Amino acid sequence: MPRSERVADSSPPPSAGIVDLSAARPAGRGELVRAALSAATDDVVASMDYSPFGLVPLRSAIADHLTAAGLATRPQEVLVTSGAQQAIGLACDLLVRAGDTVVVEAPTYPGAIDAFARAGARLVFVPADDPLVIARALGRLRPRLLYLMPGCHAITGRVLSADARAVLARESQRLGTVVLEDNIFSDFTLADQPPPLAAFAPRDAAVCTVGSLSKLIWNGLRVGWIRAPAALGDGIGFLREAERHGVRCAPGRAFSRQAAHAGCLRLMYVQPHDELRKGVDRLSRAWGEYGAPRCAAPSA
Ligand SMILES: Cc1ncc(COP(=O)(O)O)c(C=O)c1O
Repeated sequence: MPRSERVADSSPPPSAGIVDLSAARPAGRGELVRAALSAATDDVVASMDYSPFGLVPLRSAIADHLTAAGLATRPQEVLVTSGAQQAIGLACDLLVRAGDTVVVEAPTYPGAIDAFARAGARLVFVPADDPLVIARALGRLRPRLLYLMPGCHAITGRVLSADARAVLARESQRLGTVVLEDNIFSDFTLADQPPPLAAFAPRDAAVCTVGSLSKLIWNGLRVGWIRAPAALGDGIGFLREAERHGVRCAPGRAFSRQAAHAGCLRLMYVQPHDELRKGVDRLSRAWGEYGAPRCAAPSA
């Protein structure tokens, strides 16, 4: 089989006699992927600049996609990730600290449970089928973060109404809870699809919107995104850049209230000298490539 065909075939390897319902994998997209990859080659080569937030035409296309879905989005608000899983992981790194309460629906996406559990979050599960129960849980628990799938719930297929999205956007704003909405399945539903939940909150509200081409096209593409207000987007962008350079660090905003240290990073000085040196060198390379002027120095 020609190599391009092997690469483009998104179907799982056939296992004799098994009907595999264990993972959500689109089948039969091989032709589409092959056509898209060859059509995109010139654009990709033309824009092969170093772009820490993702290729500019791709960010624009994602912004247009979200805008068409009813969430006005500028390309600068979009960070391209290696799939939705990385987007969830980065948001979690930036926003969740050990002991924080994170509310998730039950059932929910296991990869998100893993990310929050790894961060040491206190996970509280609330039934996915009743948005008012979720809203009441927010009032009771005042969590750091709410992770949910308003567009089309990955497991139950439920689509949250516009009213329910508005209530959850309002409640989370009032309580200072960050919302991480995962809309990876929202283009699948035949039901009327209201705009993403972020469209029901003010533009600078702490609502992050995650999506991906994994279900629509092919998970092998590893193209996902996160749309975040500028203050969060910058932090998420730098964390991703730092990870690319082989260093993980804790964002300063986690260590104080009202984002007082939003422009800072916390380094753990308990590491041995050589390890710390290596980390600082990598951070400085990441900072150089990321473009230092993006984040203002914190005022004294
Ligand atoms: C609800 C949900 N979110 C995120 C992901 C991760 O997607 P990606 O392949 O884009 O990392 C999945 C994958 O199955 C998923 O079902």
